[in-house]
Amino acid sequence: MPRLPPSLFWTARKQISPFAPLLLPVCRTLDSTANELRWIKEHVNSTPSPVPRKLRIWQDCLKRGERGMPLQYILGTQPFGPLEILCRPGVLIPRPETESIITHLTTLLPPTPTLKILDLCTGTGCIPLLLSSLLPPTTKAQTTGIDISPLAISLSRQNLLHNISLSHLPPSTSQQQQITFTQSDIFSPLFLPSLPYSPGELDILVSNPPYISPHGFNTTTERSVRLFEPKLALVPDAASLSWSKGYSCRPEDVFYARLLEIAGVLQPKRVLFEVGDLDQAARVAEMVVRGGGEGEGGGGGGGERELKAYAGTVEIWRDDPDVESEGEKESVWVDGGKVRVGVKGRGNGRGVYFWRKDQ
Ligand SMILES: C[S@@+](CC[C@H](N)C(=O)[O-])C[C@H]1O[C@@H](n2cnc3c(N)ncnc32)[C@H](O)[C@@H]1O
Repeated sequence: MPRLPPSLFWTARKQISPFAPLLLPVCRTLDSTANELRWIKEHVNSTPSPVPRKLRIWQDCLKRGERGMPLQYILGTQPFGPLEILCRPGVLIPRPETESIITHLTTLLPPTPTLKILDLCTGTGCIPLLLSSLLPPTTKAQTTGIDISPLAISLSRQNLLHNISLSHLPPSTSQQQQITFTQSDIFSPLFLPSLPYSPGELDILVSNPPYISPHGFNTTTERSVRLFEPKLALVPDAASLSWSKGYSCRPEDVFYARLLEIAGVLQPKRVLFEVGDLDQAARVAEMVVRGGGEGEGGGGGGGERELKAYAGTVEIWRDDPDVESEGEKESVWVDGGKVRVGVKGRGNGRGVYFWRKDQ
């Protein structure tokens, strides 16, 4: 990382605040330093405390910011659509790209009186909570979020209560929205039999799984992410890699092989997976087109990779799938150039969406 010139520290002190030079090495630019300080100031001002305590909060925030801790862990929250998501070290901070593709998904849903939704690798619970908050009040939804991490499950439950208390979600007693969070390992052989859905019953399967390779984690991930966010949320761990030994997929794609196995058994009406970039999106789209990953099958669920119902309905979404591209429709070719998959929106490759042909 290039060294910052001393003059920038001087400018930061002069133009922003005497505290700005503390955060500049982490924020790297004057704009982002000014933003970070503004957010900390808003947080301190909105915390009802006597002045000496407020000063201690200031000092604490600055000290943590100086070490490179993401602001969301310092302030404790992140806006996510109409929600306020509580963030704690040990659980991944929800990203705006996730909010964007999940919001787009809700615009594609036909009006329906009931919906069954399953979110695998739920983290803070941001995806099921956002989906629930955006559904029309006339839809009765049963939503489940699953994660291997007890810390994530505890936080997702707190997030449910927190957003009910802020009236961003209807009360838990409401018959319209039933949201539950459960701890489970999606690679466990007991996972699929434990799910309460018969084939075809699930309306939406969604997941933002760990999708970074161990090499990518060490070389391309931002320092603050590497140092402060949980590796379990970002990189497939040893257990998932050992499950995938029968498949010839890349280490960073292992979760998609398993998720497609789960989709093959559950036959959800609509499926959306978040991915890291356009190359990964094309590999995942290819797995769908070919009926799963290549190979003999992993040691895990023993589910059939029956994805024929989705052939020909796969799409790749960019960060902003709402934005219509001008001119010719963009696409990528998969399966040795035999199958064309449309790409929609603007930004990085971010999602792979497919739906059952009978929908
Ligand atoms: C990329 S994070 C996504 C979190 C959240 N859905 C979001 O979009 O912010 C991936 C999540 O997968 C969870 N995870 C990792 N391995 C898992 C497994 N074998 N079974 C279930 N969840 C797992 C991690 O704990 C982490 O919360």
